[in-house]
Amino acid sequence: MTLTRTGISKAVIPAAGLGTRFLPATKATPKEMLPVVDKPAIQYVVEEAVAAGLSDVLMITGRNKRPLEDHFDRNYELEEALTRKGDASRLARVRESSDLATMHYVRQGAPQGLGHAVLCAEPHVGDQPFAVLLGDDLIDPRDPLLARMITVQQQHGGSVIALMEVDPEQIHLYGSAAILPTPDPDVVRVTGLIEKPEPAQAPSHYAVIGRYVLDPAVFDVLRKTQPGCGDEIQLTDALRELAERDDTGGPVHGVVFTGRRYDTGDRGDYLRAIVRLACEREDLGPDFRTWLHTYVTQEMQA
Ligand code: UTP
Repeated sequence: MTLTRTGISKAVIPAAGLGTRFLPATKATPKEMLPVVDKPAIQYVVEEAVAAGLSDVLMITGRNKRPLEDHFDRNYELEEALTRKGDASRLARVRESSDLATMHYVRQGAPQGLGHAVLCAEPHVGDQPFAVLLGDDLIDPRDPLLARMITVQQQHGGSVIALMEVDPEQIHLYGSAAILPTPDPDVVRVTGLIEKPEPAQAPSHYAVIGRYVLDPAVFDVLRKTQPGCGDEIQLTDALRELAERDDTGGPVHGVVFTGRRYDTGDRGDYLRAIVRLACEREDLGPDFRTWLHTYVTQEMQA
């Protein structure tokens, strides 16, 4: 088993949500399987965990999530067909996802919220700090975040969350953090958290985004956490309790992320992710950029 310098080796990827913002596409297909260029969104997330040294991945799945397991498993029929055709490059693409990481799965019986999904990871995670990567949150591979969060956890102990500055009118869509500066410009101490606040109640416009490095003390807190916003067991509520502690499970620090991030569960952000990543691709980018430029120019003249 690969251990990072901190001893953190496990990544948990909650992917059991209903994906209602993307209906009807997500009626029978998990939103995490929607393609971003030519890979499902979830593959980028697993690749990110592996790039940060976490090759033991536990995915929290639910109803309709079978395609997630199939994607990270071998597909012998397809491999044989491509071998017969001598199509080595596509064969390599097919094998990529099954060779990436050691995958484990647990089902969340009912989608009772992100906090409940994380609690389902306890038997696998045990008593070591672990990372959580939301399956529908895509961090651009060119802007690494998780490795920095692991370093900060090593320095300060406790738990570390990822924060991003958003427009004040957007903060009601996220968890909002009360923060204090630290000597590191990209690190803050988190002193409070509110899930999806009314703009007037938001302690700051620093929004919680979908990457966490958590102390296992979070499990005890989650067990006692009552359903909150949206009648779901909220991870934010458990983290607020840890933020108030200096001992077990606390403190909570935030790494302020200024890179590119897409919520692939949101239709607009999903489209932006595809356009940006397609433009950067060596194989598709040159032609696509030319087309996009012509298209946008024509649209602006219309
Ligand atoms: P979201 O709130 O973005 O996911 O949860 P959702 O509920 O699927 O989305 P909409 O609003 O209905 O479109 C954030 C992450 O937590 C996971 C989701 O899969 C997503 O990765 N999640 C959420 C769970 O695993 N279980 C839950 O009970 C809720």
